[in-house]
Amino acid sequence: MAAKRIVTIDGPAGVGKSTMAKRLAKHLAIAYLDTGAMFRATALFLGENGWELPEAEIASRLDSLRFGLSGSGADTVLHMNETPIGDEIRTEQVGMWASNVATLPVVRTFLKKAQQDLGGRFDLVAEGRDMGTVVFPSAPSKFFLDATVEVRAKRRFDQLVEMGKPADLHELETAIAARDHQDRNRATAPLKPAGDAVLIDTSGLTIEEVFQALVDGL
Ligand code: C5P
Repeated sequence: MAAKRIVTIDGPAGVGKSTMAKRLAKHLAIAYLDTGAMFRATALFLGENGWELPEAEIASRLDSLRFGLSGSGADTVLHMNETPIGDEIRTEQVGMWASNVATLPVVRTFLKKAQQDLGGRFDLVAEGRDMGTVVFPSAPSKFFLDATVEVRAKRRFDQLVEMGKPADLHELETAIAARDHQDRNRATAPLKPAGDAVLIDTSGLTIEEVFQALVDGL
């Protein structure tokens, strides 16, 4: 079987990885893999304080989880145990739960294998925190997106307002900064650019300009 095409996009919370992964996947006519959604869905599956369960218990619960993908481009759907993962995972609270379970080697080892299995079956734009460093270290195209906390919080704030959801800019800044701190400083697979990643500071760029930088860097 021919090796699959993998493009990786890593970066901190709210930097626009999902938007860019969807667009790039559409441009390349391949699927995208939102690995943050895998951590979020796993965190919800383990439940509140699930990260405090004994390691053997977590391992045995994870054993029943299977991930799959259908569709491609922006219409790619990620499934957990045959059920599409939906918007229930898209809260800052579940983001923090995800960041908590993401510190556990037992969870990272399990999801890394699930992600690599998907990468063995599908051409992918894979986005997350450790795609270029740990999960797909030999991917030929790697990107690392970054932007200040203030810019990322403001972007999320605008998204929430547009969706008619309650939003507090200061709370968002605090939550994003706390999650970044935990993601950058954990012992296993911390958030950092791969040595061979193209670095893009998106702070002063439009969505179009970031997308063009990705296409140029392929
Ligand atoms: O990208 P998203 O905000 O959905 O990710 C939720 C959390 O999952 C992150 O804060 C991070 O702790 C964790 N994560 C990770 N490795 C990935 C993707 C996400 O540790 N590849």
